[in-house]
Amino acid sequence: MTSPNHQIDLEELASLAKRRGFVFQSSEIYGGLASTWDYGPLGIELKRKIKELWWNQFVIKQENIFGLDSSIIMHPKVWDVSGHTSNFSDPLVECKKCNHRYRSDQMTESTCSNCGGELGESRLFNLMFKTFLGPVEDNTNATYLRPETAQGIFVNFLNVKNTINRNPPFGIAQTGKSFRNEITTGNFIFRTREFEMMEMEFFVPPDEDEKWHEYWINHSFDWYLNLGLSKNRLRIREHDQTELAHYSKATHDIEYLFPWGWGEIAGIANRTNYDLTAHSDQSGKDLSYFDETLKQHVIPYVIEPSFGLDRVIMALLIEAYKEETVVSSKGKEETRTSLKLSPVVAPVQVAVLPLSKKDVLSELAREIYKNLKFSELIKPLVYYDETQSIGRRYRRQDEIGTPLCVTVDFESLDDKAVTIRERDSMNQTRIPINDLENEIVARLSHKAQD
Ligand code: GAP
Repeated sequence: MTSPNHQIDLEELASLAKRRGFVFQSSEIYGGLASTWDYGPLGIELKRKIKELWWNQFVIKQENIFGLDSSIIMHPKVWDVSGHTSNFSDPLVECKKCNHRYRSDQMTESTCSNCGGELGESRLFNLMFKTFLGPVEDNTNATYLRPETAQGIFVNFLNVKNTINRNPPFGIAQTGKSFRNEITTGNFIFRTREFEMMEMEFFVPPDEDEKWHEYWINHSFDWYLNLGLSKNRLRIREHDQTELAHYSKATHDIEYLFPWGWGEIAGIANRTNYDLTAHSDQSGKDLSYFDETLKQHVIPYVIEPSFGLDRVIMALLIEAYKEETVVSSKGKEETRTSLKLSPVVAPVQVAVLPLSKKDVLSELAREIYKNLKFSELIKPLVYYDETQSIGRRYRRQDEIGTPLCVTVDFESLDDKAVTIRERDSMNQTRIPINDLENEIVARLSHKAQD
């Protein structure tokens, strides 16, 4: 699993993610369930921060974008009308000998790569997870777990438009879980059957679609740069006609250069008026607005930036993961593993580490820890750790990406100062305890801008 272009072994990364509490395999005590993952204490912090940054950028800082949280289970008609029951499928082939299944559009061989057996005919396989409402499992009660959050936005278009009392251009955003019964999964958290999306549907006058499409492609690309992904590992790729989803006039993917090659992390689609027209026709509800320039009722076009949250996490972990050879205090060469995450997304910003467990040091260190933890200035997540040697504790913090460690030693009792150690340079500086909060604020914001 090691890449030729970015020397990261995905198994190493997954092992660090597990060891340090970012991502665990789901149901692990029962042997795990393929391609399903749980986010641990640090993973959830990372996830929460990314979602918050996205919400801030796509809702809070915008004048005309509003939030929504629609349900995962919706009326089954939604999926018929949206075209998902008939079109949301991938081509599947099955080996006649071992029953291994493949996506035929991704195959390079003509026989089964698992056992060499003959492959059956290719057929379309619908990716939606079917379920039943209530106790009777028959088709009249069947519905689906949503494969995208977007439909929840379309069916609430009228509700939101009425409450905000304005006409397009405006957007509706939501984040949440989606489910796809993918034929093939893999590459850790890259392709899974349950994942989280961050989507925004931007409703525009039909003749402004191309202008807004370009705007949201650029805006989405910049959002990734601000998160700390490097420009030379990101690209925008336009779908050719054969790739376009059934609803799309044009789609541009933002791709990240993963260890196995370029992979989609977001798609920005021009969905035209496909969804609203279909829902308007089939529900009998008028989903148009009165366009003052055209002096007529029109159904708006939709530009949709759609982000996969788990893929953002995957890209950030890959980008941040570094192994370097360093010389220890005993003169030995060792490998230092660190996550060079921007402080904006790092799960823990500061770790307070007393040099020894002795009560006099613990007391002072705990006081510093509490002051920082409840600081109104930084609002950081601060860890306190007094177990094992200081070297091991630094390594632990490096591995979880903590930008700053504060070490309290015996001198601190006399000089009322502590040492700040920076994760990336490993530089250590002595700082008076009274200046610590301001110093941390300055260093974290400086690093965030790097
Ligand atoms: N509403 C538009 C839509 O669903 P999509 O390109 O199918 O578009 C949007 O999905 C994003 O969701 C993708 O760019 C990707 O980041 C993420 N995504 C899609 N399928 C996924 C899966 N099986 N596992 C993890 N993330 C996935």
